[in-house]
Amino acid sequence: MVDTPVSRAPRTGAVGRAGLPRHEVPTHFDDGAGDYDRLVGMNPGYHDHLRASAARMRLPHDGAGLRLLDAGCGTGASTAALLGVAPRAEIVGVDASAGMLERARTKPWPGSVRFVHTTAEAMEGVEGPFDAILAAYLLRNLDDPDAQLRRFRELLRPGGTLALHEYSVADSPRARAVWHAVSWGVIIPLGRAATGETALYRHLWRSVNSFDGVGRLRDRMRAAGFDAVHSETMTGWQNGVVHTVLGTRP
Ligand SMILES: C[S@@+](CC[C@H](N)C(=O)[O-])C[C@H]1O[C@@H](n2cnc3c(N)ncnc32)[C@H](O)[C@@H]1O
Repeated sequence: MVDTPVSRAPRTGAVGRAGLPRHEVPTHFDDGAGDYDRLVGMNPGYHDHLRASAARMRLPHDGAGLRLLDAGCGTGASTAALLGVAPRAEIVGVDASAGMLERARTKPWPGSVRFVHTTAEAMEGVEGPFDAILAAYLLRNLDDPDAQLRRFRELLRPGGTLALHEYSVADSPRARAVWHAVSWGVIIPLGRAATGETALYRHLWRSVNSFDGVGRLRDRMRAAGFDAVHSETMTGWQNGVVHTVLGTRP
């Protein structure tokens, strides 16, 4: 396991129209790390949908000989999804939150899985090429998604796959209404009850509201040099709300 220093951003905790200042997000995840698994465990479909995105990458065989990157791996929920579809692959999980990684590292992993403390922007201690990259609930939390997509492209081998797993509601009035209802009916009250804080959960609501529609996200992928770009959504309340956006490095 590699631990490179990532400076802890001072927190203003100011949740603006687009959510928290992006450089503060990992620090808020540090604070929320202890409750993260319990809270996402209450979200029906959370783990199934991560597994669906991992399966949509259509990785060959059981992953033997493959190198996979889980960008923004958090407590390892998305890492476990990758491991489920490619149990023999080498998997590198990276995250800028030391607190989230500490939780990830307490879980039982095979020796082929390692975690690196670094920002997705710096990728310190992480070397490509990778056969596939999964970025689950990461891109929306970055200042410059286009630069990050180009970085991902450079980290992939030719023919390698990028899967973004994200909330995206801007293209659908129905999805926006569902997101509003779930955020204010469930996510924010539950977050407050569990942690006594709401900044991270209001950030989630706001950052999704201000994030790309799925069409724009596909366009960004193409502009960053990905081929065969397409998206699929999920079942349950997340239908039309959570999407996998996939593309291939030519
Ligand atoms: C909502 S969590 C998702 C965790 C995991 N992928 C999952 O599906 O459960 C988002 C993660 O992105 C991380 N993150 C946010 N900004 C980041 C950045 N610039 N570089 C690396 N990780 C970042 C956070 O620390 C957090 O662990």
